[in-house]
Amino acid sequence: MIDLEAGSAAATASGLEDMTALKAAAEAVEAVEAPNDVPSHRSHDPAKSLKRSDPFQFGSRYLEAGDDVFEFNAWDHVETDDAYKLYTEEQLEKQRQSPVSDFDKSRFNTNPAMWWNKFYKNNTSNFFKDRKWLQQEFPILADITKEDSGPKLILEVGAGAGNTAFPVLANNKNPHLKIHACDFSKTAVEVMRKSEAYDTNHIQADVWDVSGESLPPDVEEGTVDVAIMIFVFSALSPREWAQAVRNIYKVLKPGGLVCFRDYGRGDLAQVRFRKGRYLEENFYIRGDGTRVYFFDRDELASIWSGPDATDNSEEADEPRFTIEKLGVDRRLLVNRAEKIKMYRCWLQGRFRKE
Ligand SMILES: C[S@@+](CC[C@H](N)C(=O)[O-])C[C@H]1O[C@@H](n2cnc3c(N)ncnc32)[C@H](O)[C@@H]1O
Repeated sequence: MIDLEAGSAAATASGLEDMTALKAAAEAVEAVEAPNDVPSHRSHDPAKSLKRSDPFQFGSRYLEAGDDVFEFNAWDHVETDDAYKLYTEEQLEKQRQSPVSDFDKSRFNTNPAMWWNKFYKNNTSNFFKDRKWLQQEFPILADITKEDSGPKLILEVGAGAGNTAFPVLANNKNPHLKIHACDFSKTAVEVMRKSEAYDTNHIQADVWDVSGESLPPDVEEGTVDVAIMIFVFSALSPREWAQAVRNIYKVLKPGGLVCFRDYGRGDLAQVRFRKGRYLEENFYIRGDGTRVYFFDRDELASIWSGPDATDNSEEADEPRFTIEKLGVDRRLLVNRAEKIKMYRCWLQGRFRKE
């Protein structure tokens, strides 16, 4: 199975029907499994373009005038060209013309955890690649896992099979680190609990819906140092965003941090959706019944930063985060055999509780 998410082309592009084509493409681009050693938005310096290096430095291959795009299988920081923009618009219009039926909308929206349970029954723990790159992308994770960092609590939201939590734990030297790994899929939680790496001195996996009314089991308000949200916010419906942000705000300590990565608008996975997958603008149902949203950078920033501080309306009580960083990570993947270009787009950022 491939993981088209972390930086690999998403297994979830337009459902299972696209899996074969995407698999071929994704297998050709191992690079995407391990995003940049230096995060894209921190390393955007074309002067440092490494066309070929040993070992290869992710995030450092820039496509420049005169380059043969099909010479390598992945390029970093590539803006989409006009032809692709046009193709995207045409695809999105086709998707809007064939939305999911009202019957199916309610089928998929009523109990989304059930579809994720099915997903984890089918895919167990080997679907998503281990996210070993996290500490490079989010230096705070390296800091709080140092031996002398003292008591620290990480809440992972939508932890799935533990592909983020377990690699963090594997690198941990802090005897006082605790990872609370939550997911609303009970099957995912079972998978985590059964893992060999499930060390109850440091990790506790629990069922929790980030868009619900309660806080995670055994997590007190204002106690979490870092919340990790990797490809989970996109699984929520737009109506669930506000409550999810409120919950995260509540559990974090003042000054606590959210480490965030998710799908960007116009990503290949969005463009490839075919008929009968469109739920609403930028929100789709995959072939396996799981939902996915594609975010615009400014939209995401405004969801997390809350209403304007000068706003005196009722909303002024809403949670506020400072957007410390929110970058667009773009990558051009090339299927050299078939001469196909595929544009990936992810958003990655850090939001701090004010
Ligand atoms: C695309 S997977 C990502 C899994 C994991 N973060 C990773 O990167 O390997 C999305 C995960 O979010 C979980 N999820 C979706 N909606 C959720 C919700 N409302 N509350 C908690 N978890 C949720 C799903 O069960 C699934 O495990």
